[in-house]
Amino acid sequence: MTDTQALADKKILLGVTGGIAAYKAAELTRRLQDHGAEVRVVMTRGAQTFITPLTFQALSGNPVHTELLDPQAEAGMGHIELARWADLLLVVPASANFIAKVVHGFGDDLLTTLCLARRAPLAIAPAMNQAMWANPATQNNIIKARELGILQFGPGNGVQACGDVGQGRLMEVPDIVKSVLEHFKPSQSTADNKSAQLLAGKTVLLTAGPTREAIDPVRYISNHSSGKMGYALASAAAELGAKVILVSGPTNLSAPQGVECIRVSTALEMQAAVMAKISETDIFIGSAAVADYRPASVAEQKIKKTQDRDDMTIELVKNPDIIAGVAASNPKPFTVGFAAETNDVANYARGKLARKNLDMIIANDVSRSDIGFNADQNEVTVYWKGGEKPMPNLDKSVLAIELMQLVGARYLNHSS
Ligand code: PMT
Repeated sequence: MTDTQALADKKILLGVTGGIAAYKAAELTRRLQDHGAEVRVVMTRGAQTFITPLTFQALSGNPVHTELLDPQAEAGMGHIELARWADLLLVVPASANFIAKVVHGFGDDLLTTLCLARRAPLAIAPAMNQAMWANPATQNNIIKARELGILQFGPGNGVQACGDVGQGRLMEVPDIVKSVLEHFKPSQSTADNKSAQLLAGKTVLLTAGPTREAIDPVRYISNHSSGKMGYALASAAAELGAKVILVSGPTNLSAPQGVECIRVSTALEMQAAVMAKISETDIFIGSAAVADYRPASVAEQKIKKTQDRDDMTIELVKNPDIIAGVAASNPKPFTVGFAAETNDVANYARGKLARKNLDMIIANDVSRSDIGFNADQNEVTVYWKGGEKPMPNLDKSVLAIELMQLVGARYLNHSS
């Protein structure tokens, strides 16, 4: 038993679909119960080829539901009643077939019917072979799932049961539990007024997204930042009661609710927008992927291909280091940077923490395609002088709340 009991009044309907990861749902049942949740289990036919209903019955202490048209089960708790019983419908593992069915509104077995009849949010933890995950059909279904408001936990990256390596592994059980706890946290925020008001009266200034450094009127130098991490942090800061100003490079994202968004394109524009707001800033977070260099000059007309040369050189000049400028300003806001690294992540991150005079740095391994640039998930370690905190692989929106709480707590500690 944990002492948190954070899920004490929560009813979780755990759907288990067919896949080698189905056995991990058994451990998940126990871990959710550790936090006080009541768990009922629904298994598809596929799931029952990997693990028996008896296991889940013993673990959950409740009968396991397997059939849509089972008069005996319906007499106990009908499927509509079961769908309405749940505070969260959590499907672990969620197979490619299940995801395809649920996003297209199929109700051809008990679990998909429960998904249609539910009132509670639906969360899925996908698990499948990496090629199945990468298949455009699955990826389209995942996009559709997000549009339908279905929460997604994972998948992770690594060695798979079949020996392949790649994305598609079930998110680790402790991380699924953490995501469930985070999911229920906002609904506790009214009760937990102290946490909701952590940054009340404070101003948080953030940068997000890439910068674009023009070469000529049609070409530019940039990077793969989508802005998702920075926008999620802006939204989390607003949720914690802060006044939030977001200086954003070019992205496809809409400004989070209640956030003042200043759109810029180049590093120089980003620096000017940041420095114009710095005097009113309590906490600065630099999540933007700012181009370190820009072309020394921008051609007025489109550069033409020449017949006589096969190569071309573009002279670059250094851009200002925006965050180092923020940290050097007087008074200095509490300054938090990111470090995007492909190797020796911890060392480079600590180096940047000291060199740029930051209060905290969030280290991001951007050699991985499942996290960091343009991914929906992220996994980071936060460093500060004398401390560090690794964070699990989480949806960026969930991770952002964790990060803002940590940043907020350290800021308050530092300024008291
Ligand atoms: O936008 P997403 O697709 O969601 O991806 C998120 C992310 C990977 C972009 C984000 O998590 C991240 O790691 N952002 C920092 C990217 C980066 O440029 O890191 P860096 O190690 O090069 O820079 C270190 C710090 O200095 C950063 O806080 C950066 O904003 C800042 N910097 C860098 C250069 C510069 N000229 N000015 C700066 O302020």
